[in-house]
Amino acid sequence: MTYIRVKDTQVTISELMLPSHSNFSGKIHGGYILSLLDQIAFACASKFSRTYCVTASVDTVDFLNPIEVGELVTMKASINYVGNTSMVVGIRVEAENIRTGIKKHCNSSYFTMVAKDKTNNSTKVPGLILDDTIEIQRFLKAIKRHEMKKNRQNEFDRADFIPQDYLKDLENYNVKVELK
Ligand SMILES: CC(C)(COP(=O)(O)OP(=O)(O)OC[C@H]1O[C@@H](n2cnc3c(N)ncnc32)[C@H](O)[C@@H]1OP(=O)(O)O)[C@@H](O)C(=O)NCCC(=O)NCCS
Repeated sequence: MTYIRVKDTQVTISELMLPSHSNFSGKIHGGYILSLLDQIAFACASKFSRTYCVTASVDTVDFLNPIEVGELVTMKASINYVGNTSMVVGIRVEAENIRTGIKKHCNSSYFTMVAKDKTNNSTKVPGLILDDTIEIQRFLKAIKRHEMKKNRQNEFDRADFIPQDYLKDLENYNVKVELK
């Protein structure tokens, strides 16, 4: 079994934001950023696993700050977690004002990628060497996110789900329940 250091999984891309990427208010389209995120996640996962990969899931894409036309966007990706055939790529996005050099954190997201062999079957990925506190924290956070997602699906998607059991939980929300 091969083990690879997190530091050796890092991939960085920088791109200048063009007017053609902007929406009607002059800010960069969220969809364009998502497309770049998917590209860097693919590059990071494929480089790590030495296979082609597919995107299985995207977790928490919070747009923390808008990105302006003319800013230099840098995305930094690394492998946060590995399973058997899946990997979680963590990506941090910063936008830099070229004139002032001021950088702002615009986005952090987590892409789960699955490694595929030549016949399109999911295939085993290398192990990961964690050698500092942040890398251990990121690995543990990925485990927690996976568990929370599984629990959520188990709780709300089960065949014997009874909506009446949850009506109280909805009382303080901006909804009316009108069950037929
Ligand atoms: C993602 C995909 C490969 C999973 O295939 P599958 O046959 O369900 O595979 P498995 O159940 O064996 O799961 C394979 C791994 O993916 C993980 N996985 C599958 N679906 C997942 C999801 N929704 N979220 C997170 N991880 C997921 C599993 O946990 C497993 O991880 P492990 O091997 O590290 O334990 C398959 O659903 C697929 O090909 N989806 C389409 C992908 C695609 O086209 N992406 C681009 C969208 S345009």
